[in-house]
Amino acid sequence: MFVSKLIVSFQLLGSLSFVLGLVLGLPVIQVGFNDRTISKVEADMLQIAEHSWELGTACEAEAELASPALSVFRASAFPPPTHLNPAITGNSTAMIDIATKADFVYMAPPFIAYYGALAGGAVGADLLQQAYDQCRLYRNYLRDPIGLWRHITLGDGTDETHWGTGNAWAAAGMMRVLQTIRHSEQAQAFQSQQEDLTNWIHEIVSAAWQFQQANGTLLNTIDASPWDSFADSSSTALLAATTYRLATITFDFSLIEFANKAMDVIRRSVDDDGWLQNTVDPETFNTPSLPGEHSPEGQAFVLLLHSAWRDLAEWMVGALPP
Ligand SMILES: *[C@@H]1O[C@H](CO)[C@@H](O)[C@H](O)[C@H]1NC(C)=O
Ligand SMILES: *[C@@H]1O[C@H](CO)[C@@H](O)[C@H](O)[C@H]1NC(C)=O
Repeated sequence: MFVSKLIVSFQLLGSLSFVLGLVLGLPVIQVGFNDRTISKVEADMLQIAEHSWELGTACEAEAELASPALSVFRASAFPPPTHLNPAITGNSTAMIDIATKADFVYMAPPFIAYYGALAGGAVGADLLQQAYDQCRLYRNYLRDPIGLWRHITLGDGTDETHWGTGNAWAAAGMMRVLQTIRHSEQAQAFQSQQEDLTNWIHEIVSAAWQFQQANGTLLNTIDASPWDSFADSSSTALLAATTYRLATITFDFSLIEFANKAMDVIRRSVDDDGWLQNTVDPETFNTPSLPGEHSPEGQAFVLLLHSAWRDLAEWMVGALPP
């Protein structure tokens, strides 16, 4: 953590933890993105994000990237400052217009939990419990025995396939709820809920990586055969981000290799202009983005991956004895 106070570029951070990994036997993490690429990915995201959930995800990505001290992944999250530097808040009013679609677990429970952590007391505890219960109930309905979640069940337009992005939303959403509870003043009273969330996240990411393709990508339908589905870099990026986050809090590095392979294919999938290639069309769910079209959420997921990678690298550097 003390190293984070030094001005180190992300590249240097990556090399440092790479070397430390070799020397100390810590897991070796993948080389990161360079700062110029990340700026382009970010600018592209802001240019094309327009739907409520895209703007909400973009805001979350901005928080983790540019204001990590305010994100729920840091102990400094609560209480947040009462006054923010306007440069930090940016266009975050979009957060108000948050939507609840199949991607529900990423959208609603983290918000409920955050609200609960802010409220504190009995009301706050109630809200934290509700955020947890929403995850639990969604899992009850959507989870299949192999550990992956179906896309949409009950009601109209059901989709029983194990959609990559749906599983990524669920794992990443539960991760935000978990981290919010952990950094709230109620953390002690919510031990069993934290354990459950940790297990449920692990269940999704460990199941998903069993189907990782040779070059590191996941398929849009995670467990389909390659000729029945197609490579999807969006879900690959978000599941890798969640895997890095999980390792940072559990110290279980058994899935890092998969995340590293995913990071490698994502780095190779960002073109010179900062656009993530090989994404699913986020509006159809089941066709690749058309040539020249890009995924706003895919752009955000690259930033979430970069931020998760950076935090793990920082943790590894900070783990050195003083
Ligand atoms: C906020 O939105 C305005 C208008 O769309 C845009 O010009 C500006 O660049 C945005 N600011 C940030 C930080 O994205
Ligand atoms: C990775 O492999 C898949 C096939 O499994 C292919 O469709 C995709 O284009 C490859 N990605 C890169 C960046 O080479």
